[in-house]
Amino acid sequence: MRGRQSVVQLCREIERTERDLILSGKKQGLRFRDIGGAVLFFCRHIPAGMFNYATGISSKPAGVNELLGNIEDFYARLNVPPRVVITPLSRPRDLRSRLLKRGYKESSKSDVMIIGSEARQRKTRSDMKARPVLGGQVEAFSSIFNSAFNIPLGLKGALTRFWRSAVFDSDRRLRIYLATLDREPVGIGLIFVGERAAGLYCVATKPGCRHRGVATNLVSQAVQNAFTSKAKFVYLYASRGGNARKMYRSLGFSSKYVRSVYSLDLSTE
Ligand SMILES: CC(C)(COP(=O)(O)OP(=O)(O)OC[C@H]1O[C@@H](n2cnc3c(N)ncnc32)[C@H](O)[C@@H]1OP(=O)(O)O)[C@@H](O)C(=O)NCCC(=O)NCCS
Repeated sequence: MRGRQSVVQLCREIERTERDLILSGKKQGLRFRDIGGAVLFFCRHIPAGMFNYATGISSKPAGVNELLGNIEDFYARLNVPPRVVITPLSRPRDLRSRLLKRGYKESSKSDVMIIGSEARQRKTRSDMKARPVLGGQVEAFSSIFNSAFNIPLGLKGALTRFWRSAVFDSDRRLRIYLATLDREPVGIGLIFVGERAAGLYCVATKPGCRHRGVATNLVSQAVQNAFTSKAKFVYLYASRGGNARKMYRSLGFSSKYVRSVYSLDLSTE
């Protein structure tokens, strides 16, 4: 398969898996709307960027302004800033400069990294445990999530309720992990195992417990479990600004394409 073609196929597979992931969170309030030329992910009670964004943008150059206008109207009704994802699938090709012209700014840029099931698996350490979260551990999971991702105070309550219901009403394809070190909860991650691909999200280690192999160990265990569940590959988004890419590379992940998010901050207008 030629390089460009394989990236496009990979990107399609990842977007399909992400759509299944959002659908799996229906009970928790996650929704998407396919408006033709874009898929809009949203969650009415949690305005966080991780749940509210437009992806799969595909438009002829002549129709893109109308499409962006529709996306902006949609998120304005939800009272959240519009966020547009750019991947190698996005059309028109000059989407980025169109967004900049409308006042959007790049709010994040990530490497999409993958590891195939044929990759040699790293041994996990026996003194560190990472296992799916049980109901009683939701507070520990939320507290690590909030501190590692700097969640604003106003969002913390809604997110904790979200994780609680995600754990209790869990779809068996979604596994939320908690890592412990000497029995203390120190790391988190979640993996969604779709039809072919598995997506790894929210990997974080409690500040103060970093650089001790917690995330390395949790990711290896989650990846191994995904392959046991027949996933062909595992993908993740590693922020260009963060320090995680080196760790993922050492685990056998490689970067395949860039995913950028552009946001329009309406409050500054
Ligand atoms: C990125 C993040 C998850 C890494 O967690 P971590 O538990 O510190 O990661 P690890 O300890 O497994 O690996 C990180 C480093 O420790 C080293 N390391 C691994 N095992 C080790 C051990 N037993 N002793 C000492 N160092 C070790 C690794 O080689 C790596 O080296 P580096 O610091 O030079 O990069 C953490 O910094 C974090 O929570 N960041 C904020 C949230 C975030 O950005 N998440 C990533 C989303 S993609």
